[in-house]
Amino acid sequence: MKAAVKNDYETRNVNFSVMIGETNEQYMALLNNLNIEPGLKMLDLGGGYGFVLEKIIELKGAVPFHYDLVDGAQHQLNKGKTSHLAILNNNRPGPEIRYLHQNALELDLPQNYYDVVLCKMFIHEIPEAKKQALFNSIYSVIKPGGSFVIWAPDLSVADKDFYSKVIFEKDKLAGYTSFLINRHFSLNEELFGYLKQAGFTQPEKKHSFFYDLHTINRLQEEFGGDENKLSQWNDCILKLTASLNEDIRKKILVAIDKTNIHLRFNRAIFKAIK
Ligand SMILES: C[S@@+](CC[C@H](N)C(=O)[O-])C[C@H]1O[C@@H](n2cnc3c(N)ncnc32)[C@H](O)[C@@H]1O
Repeated sequence: MKAAVKNDYETRNVNFSVMIGETNEQYMALLNNLNIEPGLKMLDLGGGYGFVLEKIIELKGAVPFHYDLVDGAQHQLNKGKTSHLAILNNNRPGPEIRYLHQNALELDLPQNYYDVVLCKMFIHEIPEAKKQALFNSIYSVIKPGGSFVIWAPDLSVADKDFYSKVIFEKDKLAGYTSFLINRHFSLNEELFGYLKQAGFTQPEKKHSFFYDLHTINRLQEEFGGDENKLSQWNDCILKLTASLNEDIRKKILVAIDKTNIHLRFNRAIFKAIK
């Protein structure tokens, strides 16, 4: 097997869904695009600890489909195995799961195999220079007629740089190293460009929703309770808002209080067909 990726996710232990404030409505929109049915072959690429599977079981029941969870961090896969085991015990028969420790940039998977590939909050983990290769390789493992579903920040020219800097500063303060090198957020038109170049057709934004970032939610999860780091991040964000034009600033900067800054961005579910 090819070498798996080594990164900060080997130690990062956060509950993304709670920290981010994801809702069942967002997951229902995702499920509407995944079209889970018995026998379906799904790949959750960069799927972390497979929280998506937990939501599928919660919202759709124990559908007997094939779920391959691929992640570059063994730590995330182990976390997934433990929580899936607990859930599946009460939901038999259910999905058939494989936990695959692989680098998404060196996938060791069959060609033309999956009905659907999902990348949820994963595309930004791949450096810009390697993004097209990732999309090409995803294209190769999807069956003709199958789909590629992406859940990602829904960024425009007006907010991309600001959003990227806010996250970069948080990652720096939290002491991550690989994130600082690898992470790259794309504009929607860049995502659509990668899709088209890889050979996908009908790329579409299917569902858009707010992502409310509350800096206080990162205090325990990312800064280990260090209030000084949170306060440095808050100061830095306020400085960065100076670069925004007035209308965008009003839209993004929802509220500021002593310990928390509430910023509002967009996220979206995109879909394309092979
Ligand atoms: C932000 S998390 C998202 C996890 C999950 N999709 C979710 O939304 O809950 C990004 C995931 O991508 C994985 N990852 C980062 N780089 C990777 C790579 N080159 N190959 C495979 N997985 C990678 C990380 O280990 C992490 O689990």
